[in-house]
Amino acid sequence: MNFELTEEQQSVKKVVRKFVDKEIIPYIQEWDRQGAFQPSILKRLSELELMGVCIPEEYGGLGMDYNTLAIICEELERGDTAYRTAVSVHTGLNTMTLLQWGTEQQKQTYLVPQAKGLKVGAFGLTEPNAGSDVAAMQTTAKREGDYYVLNGSKTWISLCDYADHFLVFAKTDHDLGSKGITAFIVERTFEGFESKAIKGKLGIRAGNTGEIFFNDVKVPAANRLGEEGEGFKIAMSALDNGRFTVAAGAVGLLEASLEASLKYCHERSTFGKEIGKHQLVQQMIAKMSANLEISRLLVYKAGTLKNEGKRNTKETSLAKWIACNAANEAANDAVQIHGAYGYSDEYPVERYLRNSKAPVIYEGTREIHTVMQGEYALGYRE
Ligand code: CAA
Repeated sequence: MNFELTEEQQSVKKVVRKFVDKEIIPYIQEWDRQGAFQPSILKRLSELELMGVCIPEEYGGLGMDYNTLAIICEELERGDTAYRTAVSVHTGLNTMTLLQWGTEQQKQTYLVPQAKGLKVGAFGLTEPNAGSDVAAMQTTAKREGDYYVLNGSKTWISLCDYADHFLVFAKTDHDLGSKGITAFIVERTFEGFESKAIKGKLGIRAGNTGEIFFNDVKVPAANRLGEEGEGFKIAMSALDNGRFTVAAGAVGLLEASLEASLKYCHERSTFGKEIGKHQLVQQMIAKMSANLEISRLLVYKAGTLKNEGKRNTKETSLAKWIACNAANEAANDAVQIHGAYGYSDEYPVERYLRNSKAPVIYEGTREIHTVMQGEYALGYRE
């Protein structure tokens, strides 16, 4: 066991931190206020080669390890959840899934440009009536010769208006439940595809999230990922990577909440002393600080298993559950420590609190992960 970052990881951390400090943090409050996603930041993430970190060099990526990806997600979410979410969806849910399940032709056509950041990928699993209950999806794919014809819609799709390629899950056989789901690579330019952003979100307002619609979309059979009926497993394997990046991002959000709180504790005085000298404030700081350490260790443990090519569904779910809850709690306490100022967007902590809510809902709600961990402990799940 080695708890030190490698030299390469330290230098990646430094580069991303500098980028976030210079190009995101000074503007994010305003972007968030306006609900304005910045495609220019996606472009910068590509220029910095952050869109294919764990993809082997032969497929256009950097061939780095999973914990380096975690460090990148931490640093991005220290700035804002929106751009970490973009990396999670593009890299964790889409690109890495193409690496695991794609044919050589699919890898050349879709994975390589995505890993290089020339094209952007997104993920279409959730539907208006199928979130946690994946098998309840209603989108259909009907085979017609060399094509599948897709009909239906997906919702809460990050990067819905900016992604070039979508990994979409549809029912090829309604009677087979989760075993009747198949995965497809759908291009935005396919006829009958449409997207529409959702307005009025509680958090991640600087992010692009919305619905995608399939109206008789003809998808070449060559764009089917895996076999018919393998879609559920493919989605779950994608979530093993997506959830890992969400957990890592939560570590960054926790760190941002702690940093802001520490600064404020030294700036603000009440009853004749810095508020950091009051024990109830110290209690909140102690909890944030401990949870930061716990969450980071859980993320790096899951990353280490991934580096070793070992199944990590349980450890990733645990890291995601603990880190996202802890980030939500830390952001809430950060607002509390800032008092009334924390309630206004003069300080970043109210944005942290709003942003911290989505990660306890998406990519497996807090309740789904609680149940999974209970089932693992009881031996009902292996
Ligand atoms: N990798 C490979 N195969 C896997 C797998 C994985 N990680 N997880 C499960 N499988 C396989 C199992 O081995 C099993 O295969 P067999 O039938 O051959 O034995 C099969 O898939 C079924 O697995 P389970 O029995 O574990 O499935 P389940 O029905 O018990 O799963 C559930 C229930 C855990 C609740 C699952 O449905 C789940 O995780 N739901 C949450 C869905 C979710 O996270 N949605 C988020 C949508 S994406 C999003 O939020 C968008 C965004 O980020 C922007």
